[in-house]
Amino acid sequence: MPLTYPRTLARATRSTGSQALTALALTGIAMAMGLTLGGALAKEPAPSHSAAAHAPTAAPAAWTPAALRNALNTLPAGNAERGRVVHQQLFCASCHGDNGQAPTQNWPHLAGQKAAYTAKMLLDYQSRLRLEGQRAELMHDIAVMMTPQQISDVSAFYAAQPAPRDDGTPRPTSAADAERLVRKGDPARLITPCASCHGVAGQGGKLEAAALAGQNPLYFTRTLLDYQSGQRANDAAKGMSAFAKRLTRDEIEALARYYADLPSGKK
Ligand code: HEC
Ligand code: HEC
Repeated sequence: MPLTYPRTLARATRSTGSQALTALALTGIAMAMGLTLGGALAKEPAPSHSAAAHAPTAAPAAWTPAALRNALNTLPAGNAERGRVVHQQLFCASCHGDNGQAPTQNWPHLAGQKAAYTAKMLLDYQSRLRLEGQRAELMHDIAVMMTPQQISDVSAFYAAQPAPRDDGTPRPTSAADAERLVRKGDPARLITPCASCHGVAGQGGKLEAAALAGQNPLYFTRTLLDYQSGQRANDAAKGMSAFAKRLTRDEIEALARYYADLPSGKK
């Protein structure tokens, strides 16, 4: 195999026999999150037990586009029906909703997401390349328990679900011109139109360019601010980090609202 999977994955694969233990650990994580959820909108949750349980690991090497292609091609073919079972048995549903539409306003929707993007995120959480905060730390603890087959299957499952509809999350009120940024970009600031990679309907584009339509605007804003500050630095080509740094907070909020409203026909 050309790609060496992260050590953590090897550990997780070896321990797949102890399903009960895995379930127990996950229930613990979900409960810990449940306890902190109340204040999650106002402030970061208190450090979960998981943050303390892990010895600090050296930051993993960043992707090169070629290494990423290779890693995604090395994953087994996914099956959406098996993926539904993974989604339920690994408790993804408890946080991301029955069909990948998160029931809380603070967590990302996964429904309608491109399989390549979801798979990349799960690899990035496993290797700690994506580890921008305590919420991402939680996903690390879950992702290390997944086998490559489970990653492919659950990614196929989300890709087969319809994009999220308006979930009632409060919209930011920014007046910046999101549509111009989406369709024309801003040549003066070297911002490429979002639509050229993410598709005109926010349905996602080539390779791992994520679907954005219907995404929760609070999550959307948070993750773009994380790219901007460098807290999120897992993008292979570093394009998203570069674009985010050139956007104002107002523009980010306008873009979050624009994409949140896309599938409900308001655009
Ligand atoms: C206890 C709650 C919880 C559980 C259980 C959970 N997640 Fe998550 N997940 C989150 C949170 C919170 C985030 C957002 C992290 C952030 O803000 O960086 C997230 C992010 C993600 C993302 C990245 C989304 C994006 O748009 O980039 C993927 C993919 C994902 N989760 C998949 C899964 C899968 C698959 C499972 C089950 C194997 C799972 N999650 C279980 C809470 C959870
Ligand atoms: C050159 C192609 C390209 C352009 C242009 C681009 N993106 Fe991206 N975007 C990507 C890729 C690739 C990813 C996945 C990066 C990763 O692996 O984290 C991404 C990820 C994202 C994410 C994270 C999705 C999630 O679920 O966490 C958001 C939000 C986003 N882009 C918004 C935008 C916006 C808004 C614009 C326009 C201002 C834009 N992008 C322009 C390629 C692009």
